[in-house]
Amino acid sequence: MAALASLREPFPPGPTDPGAVLDLLDRVGSPGTVASAGPRFFGFVTGGALPATVAANWLAGAWDQEGGMEATSPTTVVLEEVAHQWLLEIFGLPAGTGVSFATGATMANFTALAAARGAVLERAGWDVEADGLQGAPPVRIVVGEEVHPSVRKSLGMLGFGRNLALVVPADTQGRMRADRLPPIEGPTIVCVQAGNVNSGACDPFGPIAEWARAGGAWLHVDGAFGLWAKAAPGRSHLVAGVERADSWATDAHKWLNTPYDSGLGFVRDAAVLRRAMAMSAAYFPVPVGRQPDHYTPELSRRSRGVEVWAALKSLGRTGLAELVEGCCHHAARFAEGLSAAGLEVLNEVVLNQVTVRVAPDPATTDRIVERIQREGTCWVGGTTWREVRAIRISVSSWATTAADVDRSLAAIVAAVRAETASGPSPRRGGRTP
Ligand SMILES: Cc1ncc(COP(=O)(O)O)c(C=O)c1O
Repeated sequence: MAALASLREPFPPGPTDPGAVLDLLDRVGSPGTVASAGPRFFGFVTGGALPATVAANWLAGAWDQEGGMEATSPTTVVLEEVAHQWLLEIFGLPAGTGVSFATGATMANFTALAAARGAVLERAGWDVEADGLQGAPPVRIVVGEEVHPSVRKSLGMLGFGRNLALVVPADTQGRMRADRLPPIEGPTIVCVQAGNVNSGACDPFGPIAEWARAGGAWLHVDGAFGLWAKAAPGRSHLVAGVERADSWATDAHKWLNTPYDSGLGFVRDAAVLRRAMAMSAAYFPVPVGRQPDHYTPELSRRSRGVEVWAALKSLGRTGLAELVEGCCHHAARFAEGLSAAGLEVLNEVVLNQVTVRVAPDPATTDRIVERIQREGTCWVGGTTWREVRAIRISVSSWATTAADVDRSLAAIVAAVRAETASGPSPRRGGRTP
């Protein structure tokens, strides 16, 4: 890592040979990267990058297309249209649903919630795109207790404030409690979740959709990784009813295993998404077909849909189902191995997330995490969930095998043994303060 400091040089007064630039980048830069594309990186839901998507990324990079306009990249437009239709099929979303190829789930949430804001205020007789929020009828926002912070951030960027939402309590797995939903009054946007970052649990979409529809509320789903459960027949029951929402956000760079950065926002009525995102200028060519930049916050953008298409084309329906199911199997294998070693798995392992208590106190837990990361067999991170300091294991790479899980399990258990005097026995004892 010390070598990285050598990159901190003054701006070169003259040119450097491009070959020498690349050589420096690889020699000094490569050792300073984290092997998050590898099969034993379980720290965050990063996914790996499927070989076809990496190569597609290089090719699209070499094309250097302005991917926002039909006039500047016909290939991008066609590939994104094809991927769009395939994605609607995978997620079971209705025809007519619009898509935004965004940078990640944060921006996908933002984009879909911008459409939601426009729609609920239009119903209340207010044009927020033209007139802004000042003087607009108040919009009530409802979130679950364990909403992802990127949803709060998106709400903040949209002028709703990060902290003004009404919070519905969660159950023991972090799911929004359908028996604690508030009455709906006036323009309302409800944000639910497919895939809790600690448990992988999904909110009960059926009853929530029923309640939202009866009250005329807009229902938005943050499904950064959990929405992909829909692609695996053995897991799709976890997101039953999710298709009844009005908008959805997910990531391609997580479970679809495309390179960064790649998120997907969907809005049931494409025209509503377009109204929130499109702009025009006299010098813009008039598009004949779908114009990508009419659906994204950015005007100029890279052709990120190319990698989404490459992932879906290379996997096909069965390959995608196997990718998702395989990660879930590996997560279950982790949970079994950790339990067998005497450790307390804190969540019901239904998807790809395992949260495990490895020590009776936060300081020891953090030392164990550090030891695992330093030893280098695998990479896991820490979390605090329901007041317990724990290790969080996320399985989302196409490259992970059962052998990787077993090697990682051995490394985790060894680290726990090394840091705890009497070996792994944190199953007993109350919650940490
Ligand atoms: C549930 C959930 N929502 C939203 C996000 C934000 O996604 P991104 O980092 O792609 O913006 C994440 C990322 O970890 C997530 O897990």
